[in-house]
Amino acid sequence: MSRATQRKALAASVLFSLLSCSNAFYLPGAAPHDYRKGEEVKLFVNALTPMLASNDHAKLRSLINYDYYNPSFHFCEPEGGPKSEPESLGSILFGDRIFNSPYDIKMLEQNTTCQTLCRQDVPAEDAKFINDRIKEDYALNWLVDGLPAAEMKVDKKTGDIFYDMGFNLGDDEDEFIDNPALNNHYEIVLKYHSPSPDVYRVVGVLVWPSSLGDNQDDPADCDATNVKHLQLDGNSTNRVRYSYRVTWSESDTPWATRWDNYLHIFDPRIHWFSLINSIVIVVFLCVMVSMILLRTVSRDITHYNNIDLSEDIQEDYGWKLVHGEVFRTPQHPMILSVLVGNGAQLCAMVGVTLVFALLGFLSPSNRGSLATVMMICWTLFGAVGGYISSRIYASMGGTDKRKNSFLTATILPTIVFGVVFLLDLFLLSAGSSGAVPFGTILLIVVLWFGISAPLSAIGSYFGSKHGAITHPVRVNPIPRQIPPTPRYLQPWAAALLAGILPFGAAFVELYFVLSSLFASRAYYAFGFLALTAGVVALTTATVSILFTYFILCAEEYRWHWRAFLAGGGSAFWLFAYGVFYWASRLSLGSFSSVVLYMGYLLLLCLFDFLITGTIGFVAAYWAVRKLYSAIRVD
Ligand SMILES: *[C@@H]1O[C@H](CO)[C@@H](O)[C@H](O)[C@H]1NC(C)=O
Ligand SMILES: *[C@@H]1O[C@H](CO)[C@@H](O)[C@H](O)[C@H]1NC(C)=O
Repeated sequence: MSRATQRKALAASVLFSLLSCSNAFYLPGAAPHDYRKGEEVKLFVNALTPMLASNDHAKLRSLINYDYYNPSFHFCEPEGGPKSEPESLGSILFGDRIFNSPYDIKMLEQNTTCQTLCRQDVPAEDAKFINDRIKEDYALNWLVDGLPAAEMKVDKKTGDIFYDMGFNLGDDEDEFIDNPALNNHYEIVLKYHSPSPDVYRVVGVLVWPSSLGDNQDDPADCDATNVKHLQLDGNSTNRVRYSYRVTWSESDTPWATRWDNYLHIFDPRIHWFSLINSIVIVVFLCVMVSMILLRTVSRDITHYNNIDLSEDIQEDYGWKLVHGEVFRTPQHPMILSVLVGNGAQLCAMVGVTLVFALLGFLSPSNRGSLATVMMICWTLFGAVGGYISSRIYASMGGTDKRKNSFLTATILPTIVFGVVFLLDLFLLSAGSSGAVPFGTILLIVVLWFGISAPLSAIGSYFGSKHGAITHPVRVNPIPRQIPPTPRYLQPWAAALLAGILPFGAAFVELYFVLSSLFASRAYYAFGFLALTAGVVALTTATVSILFTYFILCAEEYRWHWRAFLAGGGSAFWLFAYGVFYWASRLSLGSFSSVVLYMGYLLLLCLFDFLITGTIGFVAAYWAVRKLYSAIRVD
């Protein structure tokens, strides 16, 4: 085997193992907790989230989280009232609200003992509230030793057994459609592994909830069969008895791989299909570009240079005609450079986060680590944003450096902050726990305006010190007339057309990303995600270069904004897809949920627009410089 083939084979095998392993590959977050027999095993409760039922036609009915100890639920509280657990920034932002609980669990003790936790009186008003939440498929989220409590399910397509995080608050299927049943008994199965004598580790948490509707003042009988279900009456006060039973079951899953069952990838074939789809699009594009563009451009260049040599009277045509115009200052250079600077900052953030995710640093046992890493990267890359924005601004002939630096540092955080703040108000009015607490908001303000903005200013300083990028051709003093351009090259038409390809390369993977964002489906296929992101970047760059070439050939020299729009075109399709997802997979009952969904979708589209627009602009800038350095201009 030659060196080159060897290298290729190595690369292919590394790629393959990255892709196939990244679902199961992660660094364990913290050291394992070794329990002794009889040691207390704490059970924590997290916010209740709406769950996507597992049948294929299920729709998500709400987007709002509720605190476990929301007074309307009347769950049993620990002595002295619930206490919240410290959490990471990302974990709070993504809606975790973790509290302690009154469940009394000790390692290997009280095996299969039926225990009554407490009895609660639920008034009519709250009974209605609970019934509504059951109808919206809310799920309880518990944590034991960092592991989420799950229901064991079978993937219908592959037959694999996996753990589906969360379990139902109640049952509203079939006979309970009108009057749902509340689950008031929990069968908790704790799987433990014993690496050495008298050392025990928790490696799995399963919960089977059920509804026991016998006389609630009797002691609980966990083995009760044929008892009716507990249905809350919305007309009177209801007595509810909560009970549970813990079963300790030995497992040979070692601690290091205890997350594998949770990180189940539904139908991995779809991810492969998506990847192949993307690659086909890229290959198609690359072939098109190299065939058409390179050949015509090189012919053009020889042609132009020959004409000049022979002093022919024949006129220039096509893109060469506008050589005196291409580097003319575009309209609104300030806004454009601020957009590009912020886009570059986001690009850097996404790139580094994906690398972290690929290397397995974002372990699921470290809750919210993905969001935390993103926030920190975004803050630190303020310098990148400032630098690029000021250099682009100078290259386009801008002079108001201070204003540029100021706007780059503040405008995007302010917009994002404003939107999130508005959404927060909606969440608060809906009584949801998903609203970001005041302390966290303060921390974000400090991160963004206290660290990111000064870094951006430093970046701007160095950017303006390095100054403008030199251009290969001079700008004519008098602007040329622009002939009418064909309709498909008009800026918005071009943006929509150009956006199709990058969107087409990503839309299958996008479905999973949206599901994980909105339907709290776990997403760990980072290998696929990273490759898809790479393909999207490449496609966006190529498409944008192609469009820029076409408009220059049409003697339309105002390419700066058009290149940005052509790059960012995929954001429009993303929005359309988001609306389609809403129509097909969500059936949001409350107005607040709809506002929430639209708000997050718009933010997502804004980020996508900035990122892909920047990629398109930078690629086109590079191509235009290359193109005009190749010709001779007298
Ligand atoms: C509650 O009261 C309403 C109106 O009085 C009645 O129609 C309904 O049947 C009652 N529900 C139950 C479960 O008793
Ligand atoms: C707990 O009880 C179950 C069912 O009886 C049994 O299979 C299991 O081995 C018991 N576990 C311990 C630690 O005794």
